Amino acid sequence: MIRNEVVDKTDMRNTEISVSILSADLLHLQDELEKLKQADADQLHFDVMDGQFVPNISFGLPVLQAVSKQTDLFLDVHLMIRNPLQYIENFASAGADLITFHLESADDPFQVIAEIRKQHCKVGISVKPGTPAKALLPFLDLVDVILIMTVEPGFGGQSYLHDMTEKIRAIKNMLQERDLRNVRIEVDGGIDAGTAPEALQAGADILVSGSYLFRQDDMKSAIMQLKR
Ligand code: DX5
Ligand code: ZN
Repeated sequence: MIRNEVVDKTDMRNTEISVSILSADLLHLQDELEKLKQADADQLHFDVMDGQFVPNISFGLPVLQAVSKQTDLFLDVHLMIRNPLQYIENFASAGADLITFHLESADDPFQVIAEIRKQHCKVGISVKPGTPAKALLPFLDLVDVILIMTVEPGFGGQSYLHDMTEKIRAIKNMLQERDLRNVRIEVDGGIDAGTAPEALQAGADILVSGSYLFRQDDMKSAIMQLKR
């Protein structure tokens, strides 16, 4: 009995759920934000797509501004855009708490990191499935979050790529070897009750989930379940 309680607390201590509003009902966004709040979402994941870096277009600055005015949730902004450097200041002003950019999208990732810091946001760096873990080595001690894509970026509702679990583990090891305990691993794409345990066991700290959570009648218990 006591042992179970301890195990539960340990397992749930650090896990956070960032709910992707890509799958929300955008016509009723205010209600959806309230739903996230009621469901105890830890973060709101905001997917920005430009039709260039990824083959889809989602939403951008005016929507982030509106969201930021309506919610006090932590705003986790995932930029899937070319030339992120040009837009960092705008996304920071629009209310982003964390700005994550793609390593593959930036001419000079160091400069993008410096610009995000300058805007007083947390810094995230992301890699597509085809980019190996070792490509992140020069940036490990400069960022707050490493976002590992477990689908090809561009669309919600895709299936988790199980090959990526090994990459999560590799990055977890790289961080542990360097004693970088404050850098958190976020996993994005195809997270549901079936795949969450696999990502968590490999070392994920933050799970992004969109289509799965918005399909649930009871988002709150679904979020609790994902954390276990
Ligand atoms: C995909 C996005 C994801 C997406 C996740 O390019 O980065 O954040 O919204 O959606 P699900 O949970 O449906 O895979
Ligand atoms: Zn995302």
